[in-house]
Amino acid sequence: MTEKEQLKNKLGELIDPSNEKTLAENDAIRHLAIDGKTVTVLIGIADEHNDEAKKTLRRNLAKTIKRDLGYEGLKLDFEPLKKKDSILQKKNIHYIGVASGKGGVGKSTVAANLALALKRLGKKVGIIDADIYGSNMPIIMDMEIRPPKANEKEKIIPFNKHGIELISTEFFMEEGKPLMWRGPMLSKMLEHFFYDVDWDEETEYVIIDLPPGTGDVAIDIQRFIPECRMLIVTTPHPSASRVAVKAGFAARQLKHSILGVIENMSYLKQGDEVLRIFGEGGGKEVADKLDTALVQQIPIGQPESGHHSLFGVKEELGVLYLGLANKLIKTVEKDSTQ
Ligand SMILES: Nc1ncnc2c1ncn2[C@@H]1O[C@H](COP(=O)(O)OP(=O)(O)OP(=O)(O)O)[C@@H](O)[C@H]1O
Ligand SMILES: [Mg+2]
Repeated sequence: MTEKEQLKNKLGELIDPSNEKTLAENDAIRHLAIDGKTVTVLIGIADEHNDEAKKTLRRNLAKTIKRDLGYEGLKLDFEPLKKKDSILQKKNIHYIGVASGKGGVGKSTVAANLALALKRLGKKVGIIDADIYGSNMPIIMDMEIRPPKANEKEKIIPFNKHGIELISTEFFMEEGKPLMWRGPMLSKMLEHFFYDVDWDEETEYVIIDLPPGTGDVAIDIQRFIPECRMLIVTTPHPSASRVAVKAGFAARQLKHSILGVIENMSYLKQGDEVLRIFGEGGGKEVADKLDTALVQQIPIGQPESGHHSLFGVKEELGVLYLGLANKLIKTVEKDSTQ
C-alpha cells in the first residue's frame, strides 16, 4: 500500500459528527496530497453549516495527521458533501491548463484558438477562464461581459460561443474591486466553476486559461483537478522563457503533468522573409529544461476574418492550431487508454 493509501484509510476511519458516519462511508475524502511533510486534504462534510462538527473534525484530522502520524503541516478545506455530482468529476474529461510565467505572451489567445480547433475536430469543449488579473477571454471569444444566469437546477448556465461553453472570472468580478482581493476570491470562484456550473454532460475537453505567474492558482487548480495537464506558453525571448521555466517547475512540483511547450510569436512572415522579432530559441530552451517537447511554434499573425483573435480554418494560423489540437488529442487520449 502506498503512503497515500495508508493515510486515506486512516483518515477514512474518522467520524463526520454532522451525520455520525465515517469519512470512508461518506466517501468524503475528495482530495488528498502529500508533499514532503505537508498533507493537503479536502473533505466533503455532510452539514456545512454545522460549525461545531467542523471544529471537531478539524481537530481530529489534525490530531491523526500531525500527532499520530507525524506530519508537520496540514492544509485542510471543507466543502459540502452533496456537491459531488459535478459533471467535471466525470472520469473521462481531459483538462488542459494553459500557463506561462510572464504575462502577455499569448496564453489566452492560444487557449481560445486551441479550444476552437478541438471543437472543429469534433470534440465537445469547455473553457474555464481563471485569469483573475483582468481577463480578456470574453473579448477574444467575441462576447460581452454580463453576469451569467442560473437554471431551474440552481446551477449556473455557462455561456456558449462558437459552440464552446465558457465561464469566466470576469463575469463575476465586481467592477472596481481592488486587485489584492482577487487572489483570495479565486479559490471560491473555482469552486463554483467546478461544482455549480451546469456544463454539458458530453464535455470531453476543458481548457483552463491560467493567470500569469507560477503560484497559487496552480495550487487551487490542483485541489479540484489533480490530473490537469499543463501547456506552457512562452515567446522566443529569454525574459519570457526564463519565467516560463519557473512556471513549468512549479506545475511539476504540484504533480501536474506537462503536455509540452508552445512558443508563441515565434516569427513574422513577410513574403519570403522570416523575421525573428522577439529573438529565437526560447521555446526550445524551456522544453529542454522541463524535459518535454516543443509542441508548436506559432508565428505573429492577425485573423483575416474580422475576429479579434480567433483564426479561421483556412487561415495559416487556423491550420496550425488544428495541427496542435490533433497532436494533443493523440497524446492525451493515448495516455488515458493505457
Ligand atoms: N501569435 C500572435 N500574433 C500576434 N499577436 C498575438 C499573438 N498571440 C497573442 N497576440 C496578442 O498579444 C496580446 C496578448 O495576448 P494574450 O492576451 O493572449 O496574452 P496572455 O498571455 O493571455 O496575457 P495575460 O498575461 O495578460 O493574460 C493580445 O493583444 C493578442 O492579440
Ligand atoms: Mg490572458
